[in-house]
Amino acid sequence: MIDELKKEIEGVQRSFVKEIEQLQSPENFSALKERYLSRKKGVITMLLSRLKEFPAPEKPQAGQAINQLKDFIETALAGNAFQGGLRNGAEIWNDHSLPESASPVGRFHLIAAIQRQIEDLFLNLGYEIALGPEVELEDYNFTKLNIPEHHPARDEQDTFFLEGHDELLLRTHTSPMQVRYMLAHPPPFKIISPGKAFRKDDPDATHSPCFHQVEGLLVDRGIHFSHLKGTLEAFCRSFYGPDIVLRFRPGYFPFTEPSAEVDISCFLCSGKNPECRVCKGSGWLEILGSGMVHPQVLRNCGIDPEVYSGFAFGMGIERVAMVKYGVPDLRLLYENDLRLLNQFG
Ligand code: DAH
Repeated sequence: MIDELKKEIEGVQRSFVKEIEQLQSPENFSALKERYLSRKKGVITMLLSRLKEFPAPEKPQAGQAINQLKDFIETALAGNAFQGGLRNGAEIWNDHSLPESASPVGRFHLIAAIQRQIEDLFLNLGYEIALGPEVELEDYNFTKLNIPEHHPARDEQDTFFLEGHDELLLRTHTSPMQVRYMLAHPPPFKIISPGKAFRKDDPDATHSPCFHQVEGLLVDRGIHFSHLKGTLEAFCRSFYGPDIVLRFRPGYFPFTEPSAEVDISCFLCSGKNPECRVCKGSGWLEILGSGMVHPQVLRNCGIDPEVYSGFAFGMGIERVAMVKYGVPDLRLLYENDLRLLNQFG
């Protein structure tokens, strides 16, 4: 008889565990408690009432087995784990007595963080942010920017054209936003335009088919090269450090004339360490392209170059990240390895 009782008790315990696991609400909790522990006709009371049927030598063992079950059920129902959760309705099985687990706090990806820093600096200089589409008209990406018909950048090897839409492409730089803005707004204005750009490059340490740029454009009466120099100097000193020296090298871009490539003095060694990991000993870091907006570009966009002039510049955000933080390989920025990303932000 005692063996049968023990089996029955095991069965009761199993179904109790199942029921308590499936509990959905405090109401169900009370009903469950009632069903098992009610003095009048709870499962335990019923079991105890059968004790008298047991032969005397088996009674103590039977009583002990029933009481163990009762203890188990009472402990389970009274346990912190259940009550704590139930008081809270929604998170029924939260054990509030467990030690907390620190949840990781999100942060901006390095590229997004740098983009925001650049935006903030130019917003402080009174610039506005203008965003343009990533799928762009060939006319705006190339033609209106004075990029000639047979320029190699227009080649299908270099540019993603949209299948079946010869006039559409993934913008190869953020410069077409200059065109969009000039066509839609009369000067004066000063804007920056951050965003993605795309080129048919195989990924390597310094190339990626998708990358990020920030474009800048200012058009007003009487704007000349010194305004460009002053602006870029203010930007670079805030961004890289107050002692940075800028070097303007003659360059060529079809949409600016004259054009200049801008280098900054190495912020790590100032040119004093021939083995510097940032400037490789040259003392200079190439950071952006710039120039005075070409009169033909102004004309293409309905602005009279006899009245207005302007300057423009463009920089790669990945390049900025690599230079500023010594990231040796562009691809690291896209792998989302938290060991790298957690070092920033
Ligand atoms: N669009 C150029 C590039 O992708 C960067 C650039 C150079 C932008 C000179 C400019 C500029 O606005 O004036 O390489």
